[in-house]
Amino acid sequence: MTRDVKRVAVVPGDGIGPEVIEEAVGVLERVRETHGVGLELKHFDWGAEKFLSEGVTLPEGALEMLSSEFDVILSGAFGDPRVPSNQHAEDILLGMRRGLDLYINLRPVRLLHQRLTPLRDRSAEEIDFVVFRENTEGAYSGAGGFLKRGTPDEIALQEEFNTRKGVERIVVAAFEYARARGRKRVTMADKSNVQRFGGDLWQRVFKEVAALYPEIETNHQYVDATAMFMVLNPAQYDVIVTNNLFGDILTDLGAALQGGLGLAASGNIHPGRVSLFEPVHGSAPPLAGKSQANPAGAILSAALMLEYLGHADAARAVERAVRDSIAEGETTRDLGGALSTREAGERIRGRIK
Ligand code: NAD
Ligand code: IPM
Ligand code: MN
Repeated sequence: MTRDVKRVAVVPGDGIGPEVIEEAVGVLERVRETHGVGLELKHFDWGAEKFLSEGVTLPEGALEMLSSEFDVILSGAFGDPRVPSNQHAEDILLGMRRGLDLYINLRPVRLLHQRLTPLRDRSAEEIDFVVFRENTEGAYSGAGGFLKRGTPDEIALQEEFNTRKGVERIVVAAFEYARARGRKRVTMADKSNVQRFGGDLWQRVFKEVAALYPEIETNHQYVDATAMFMVLNPAQYDVIVTNNLFGDILTDLGAALQGGLGLAASGNIHPGRVSLFEPVHGSAPPLAGKSQANPAGAILSAALMLEYLGHADAARAVERAVRDSIAEGETTRDLGGALSTREAGERIRGRIK
């Protein structure tokens, strides 16, 4: 990533994906002017529509093309009621996460305004942490199978795997982040009381890595307790590191603590390589095409992307603009406002200075 102009692959996807991504793209166009950020965008129509009409999910050679020609990917969401198997989402989204080895799923949980949280009497200072979700293995291995399928004795096997390298690199990433950002505690959430083998590996790696970061407090929790404490005492968290499935579940809860799925942002990252930024929410079929979806999660994901590209000033300016719009009540209806997706995006863009 040494060129001045960074190349962005834009994959809007399904449902509300295109609506929210259009607003995020508008924000990127704005920071091109306000902050002189050099970006070149190219759109790709991968998603349910293409799958249904052409039978193509992630086109042949796409991963190689993304890694050789692009610095980052900005994507919307994948999922369509007309594709109950979810095959295209599996191929495209999980295909990019695994195929590009994007092992860090970084999901900030940050309350932007006190009125947004469903938790009583919690301030913005108390809800401010980051989840490091392992993003290439665990229960998302895709391995498994059926025995005696369709009979009363049917067995469905769903495999989970944890590799030493995979666990170590996500735990290291969490500690490195804590060190770089001056966050004081890393919490590891697992279910090692039941999942003995994977849990044992996570426990050993966590202890070994923690010893290399003596200035950072460590904390181990069973993930069911973490879910409870995220509600009862979210202030205790700075950085949470966990596996793929637990990270998926905890971050929807985290989204709720911030005011809803419409606000939550994420980055799928392999440091130094092409990385993918997307809102945490899905395609929300009931909202699709109505211009009611909140574009903030997509816009904040674009901010994470700008930061990854080395444009921290522009990223902060975008975050401030989102925060200020929310403070002024310039929001879509999920946050109690009356604006359309487009209007909410415009207000945010107008505030980027
Ligand atoms: P979802 O995130 O799409 O929506 C759940 C609910 O959250 C919505 O009905 C809506 O009330 C609210 N919501 C979500 N995004 C919002 C926004 N931007 N603004 C306002 N409200 C918003 O989750 P789901 O309904 O469980 O899944 C729908 C489809 O999306 C499924 O096919 C699922 O597999 C897929 N999905 C895809 C991704 C992804 O591609 N990254 C992520 C999650 C779900
Ligand atoms: C997410 C989504 C995906 C996941 C689905 C759509 C495969 O829920 O990004 O959180 O489970 O990772
Ligand atoms: Mn999810």
